[in-house]
Amino acid sequence: MTPHDRWLLRTDTTTYAVTLGGDGRWAELAAWGPHGVEDGPSPMDWSRRTHFIIPADAAPAEYIPYGLRPFTGADLIASHPGGDRGSWWRFTGATQVEDRALRLEFADDVLGLRTTLCYETVPGTDVVLRWTELTCTGETEVRLERFDSAAVNVPVQGGSRLTYLAGQWSQEFQLKHLELERGRFEMESTQGSAGHAYHPWLAVQDAAAPAEGATPTYGIALEWSGNWRITADAEPGGAVRVRAGRVPHEGAVRLAPGATLVTPRLACAFSPDGLDGLARVWHRYERHLTGERIDRPRKVLYNSWEATGFDVDAAGQLELAKTAAELGAELFVVDDGWFTGRPDDTGGLGDWDPDPAEFPGGFDRFVEDVRALGMDFGLWVEPEGISPRSKLYAEHPEWVYRIEGRPATLVRNQLLLDLGREDVQEFVIGTLDRLLGDHAISYLKWDMNRPPTERGRPGHPAGPDPELQDLDAAHVAGYLRVLDHLRTAHPHVTVEGCAGGGARVEHATIARTDVVWPSDNTAPMDRLRIQHGYLHAHAPHTMSSWVTDAPGVFDPRPRSLAFRFVNSIAGVLGIGADIRHWTPQQRAEATEWIARYKEIRAIVHHGEVSLLGSPADPTCGIQYEEPGGAHLVVTAWNTGPLDGAPLVPGRAARLRLRGLRPDAVYTDTAAGTRYSGAYLLHSGLPFAWTAAHDAELTVLARQ
Ligand code: DGJ
Repeated sequence: MTPHDRWLLRTDTTTYAVTLGGDGRWAELAAWGPHGVEDGPSPMDWSRRTHFIIPADAAPAEYIPYGLRPFTGADLIASHPGGDRGSWWRFTGATQVEDRALRLEFADDVLGLRTTLCYETVPGTDVVLRWTELTCTGETEVRLERFDSAAVNVPVQGGSRLTYLAGQWSQEFQLKHLELERGRFEMESTQGSAGHAYHPWLAVQDAAAPAEGATPTYGIALEWSGNWRITADAEPGGAVRVRAGRVPHEGAVRLAPGATLVTPRLACAFSPDGLDGLARVWHRYERHLTGERIDRPRKVLYNSWEATGFDVDAAGQLELAKTAAELGAELFVVDDGWFTGRPDDTGGLGDWDPDPAEFPGGFDRFVEDVRALGMDFGLWVEPEGISPRSKLYAEHPEWVYRIEGRPATLVRNQLLLDLGREDVQEFVIGTLDRLLGDHAISYLKWDMNRPPTERGRPGHPAGPDPELQDLDAAHVAGYLRVLDHLRTAHPHVTVEGCAGGGARVEHATIARTDVVWPSDNTAPMDRLRIQHGYLHAHAPHTMSSWVTDAPGVFDPRPRSLAFRFVNSIAGVLGIGADIRHWTPQQRAEATEWIARYKEIRAIVHHGEVSLLGSPADPTCGIQYEEPGGAHLVVTAWNTGPLDGAPLVPGRAARLRLRGLRPDAVYTDTAAGTRYSGAYLLHSGLPFAWTAAHDAELTVLARQ
């Protein structure tokens, strides 16, 4: 093999090597792992003998069309409209920029299709981004029935264990494992968003290896705010081939002559340190996505949704705001219910004017009253939502998704605007500009509470043929355009992403918002599990988390106020309880927790995380190490029964810390206890749980 047959991409600590296979007809994975892994024969090498399938079916192809690969799963299914399905291409050249970027081109002259596989490393991380560009080079349209972003061959040994995040509304981000010896595992959302049911994220490990510790662990995450699919095939040779990409609403899209379709980016990550190590790779990547806005302290917010619901009025909100300010909140957010026609969820969406009946002294006066308490002011919006009873719907019924002659399905009593339309984008941008320009708003929560049904656009400029419309991609482009506009036109405004809880959490949203709302479920034990899953894929500085009233609307298991505070301090702290009814003792305790959070939030948001155990254990925690290691923050919870702790014979529960210097001394800054690094690594940090003491926040300073 000549050196030109192999291309290397290098991240901070990993190498991703690509070579040509099939006599130069496709690209194959040659190596993926720690630096140096490329020095030796490829672990994906195989006998080249096949029976009843062809070599392309068994090859660890990086991206291969149906046609060339007929039986075992192709990444691209292309044809001329009405023509035979399949593509047979040839390699036409490579462009490489050092070991940072690579483009490999393949041409099918019969179909008139150029396919470019694109690779880019992300500085300061162990992430390689992959995507594909498809260009119609002929005179005839090309029909694309499947067009994944990339295929990723994972060099596992002895079968694979897949780890994924699944759930439903109020139970998002549940961490699930599955052993895949043969067959196919598939996750999908056709809800026009990442969805609640599955998360566009997957981790792959050797089946027999432990999930944690020194275990090679591979992961992928798709940067796409619309419909998606991830497919993992366990191949007879032992490897796993993962494909990920968009799912067009219309079933297929057409590429016009000269047009190029760019797929969403697939982030591919590797860690030698198990799921916990992989989480750190994703956290670093998300700090990169956040860019310089990571340096903006995430303010302690108060959100009134759980306290007042739709019952929003100036007096009630101000009463909450006064107490929130006394506790130390820095930001007051009025959620749903502040605008005209919104006494409940049956009306109002689309008519974004403060309800004068609820703000009799004027909305600006109310905002100023909140700000006079020393807090910033924030507002909830649902820009894509539209109520059938709204003025907006009366004026623009054509702006909602609909299919001529079919009834429209209401979800939460509302319809959905077709944000793929330019006029709708202009309306949304105009509305947000007006609200942010007219009032002193420095925080915006963008919600979306229903998926699209009857998704059509009568009178689409591309004509009535649905395959020419690609409505899902148009909606995503509109959504991202508005978010990008907020960043450039209103850079001081902090944006929270939300979709009925955590249905719109993925890298495209994370790159354009400051925090996201993982779930509507804030009940302590449920929340702990949701956040445990969330933190495997996403960074703490993105994780909005509120302290709400006990026992909570979802999970009646009682936990202390401390448990709920430590839960929320593990991400971006907010308060969502009805604090008007809190006792002086509760308020005093909350004031202390908020003050402690402000002292350590930089470590939580910039630090390296180690996930210590899981909520299935009687004690679990999270360790955050300040860059440089001078301070550690440990959040810990007792998840077991409250009445028997500590159990006979009364020894403390312990969490072994990770990555410390064994010979350094670490002092608990509150209790003054001194520990050696070796002690904390080996014997662990002790926790003396009692019925009243079920959570702790420890800060350790290294001498
Ligand atoms: C769903 C969100 O997840 C909640 O936090 C809240 O904003 C409601 N929508 C308001 O309708």
